[in-house]
Amino acid sequence: ASTAATSVSISGDISSQLHGGYHHPLARSWQAERQLTKSMLIYPVFISDLEDEESLIPSLPGQYRYGLNKFIPFLETLVRKGLRSVMLFGVPMAPGAKDALGTAADDPKGPVISAIRLIRQRFPSLFICTDVCLCEYTNHGHCGILRDDGSLNNQLSVDRISDVAIAYAQAGAHCVAPSDMNDGRIRAIKLKLIEEGMAHRTVLMSYAAKFSGCLYGPFRDAAGSVPSFGDRKCYQLPPGGRGLARRAIVRDIGEGADIIMVKPASQYLDIISDAKELGKDLPVAAYQVSGEFAMIHAGAKAGVFDLKTMAFESTEGILRAGATIVITYFAPEFLDWLDN
Ligand code: PBG
Ligand code: ZN
Repeated sequence: ASTAATSVSISGDISSQLHGGYHHPLARSWQAERQLTKSMLIYPVFISDLEDEESLIPSLPGQYRYGLNKFIPFLETLVRKGLRSVMLFGVPMAPGAKDALGTAADDPKGPVISAIRLIRQRFPSLFICTDVCLCEYTNHGHCGILRDDGSLNNQLSVDRISDVAIAYAQAGAHCVAPSDMNDGRIRAIKLKLIEEGMAHRTVLMSYAAKFSGCLYGPFRDAAGSVPSFGDRKCYQLPPGGRGLARRAIVRDIGEGADIIMVKPASQYLDIISDAKELGKDLPVAAYQVSGEFAMIHAGAKAGVFDLKTMAFESTEGILRAGATIVITYFAPEFLDWLDN
């Protein structure tokens, strides 16, 4: 009997046998380098300047634009479930709130600064990220200040964007995240943070590799930031531009970014992996954007797949590519799903 056992173990092809390593659910989970946890999640939220607003965003299933009176109770349930961080987007709804310079972006009574103050007071342990851009506040809907010919004036835009970032940090934001894509804004913000004595307590997250394309539609509905003419192709990156994304990532690390973000996520997993390689000593964030979220909902609704299964599968891909922070509209659902 002992001879038979010996001959099997010696002549059998051992290297072909993989199934044993992932037969059990726990063993399957060990195959991933990292598992999704609640602390990896940042939840993007839309804050209106109309205090009592609570309106469903039709193209962004289950997501609402909230005025502060409605937002705080909503947030309370999420914080109780373990939400650690939000990304704030301000939406000026009041008539006349928009102008050519995006003045409302850092209005001390505007939605973002009011939200920062209130959240710091009510939920002191919640980590507040603020998207920094002008497109929600400009009457032309572009992410900066324009020249007469309609193109971005980079210098004026960077000056303005960095002022807005400073205002958010001063109000108490833990993290400022410029999404405008003007050249040199990371350096400008870092320098002003240093000058104002806030560099030691403010995370600077760069939307470094932010691609133009058709996946931001629901967001622009929600935020009212559709450009009134043209598109964003001359500042957001072209979808095929892997090399350009690598250059933007390297540049922004050099300019003082603390976190590198890739956006959208699932269509750009190679870029996430590049970001991890180029910024191996920095956290990499991935933004699963509004169009990705809406697409997953649409697929589930059409019976293509189960919503929760796809939410996890898409996130696992994002983590596998190298991200350790995921900005996603699924955050509230993950808080429930991760408990079970
Ligand atoms: C503002 C901004 C946008 C998003 C994040 N910040 C829209 C855009 O650039 O047009 C997109 C987020 C999403 O689609 O969920 N610049
Ligand atoms: Zn913008």
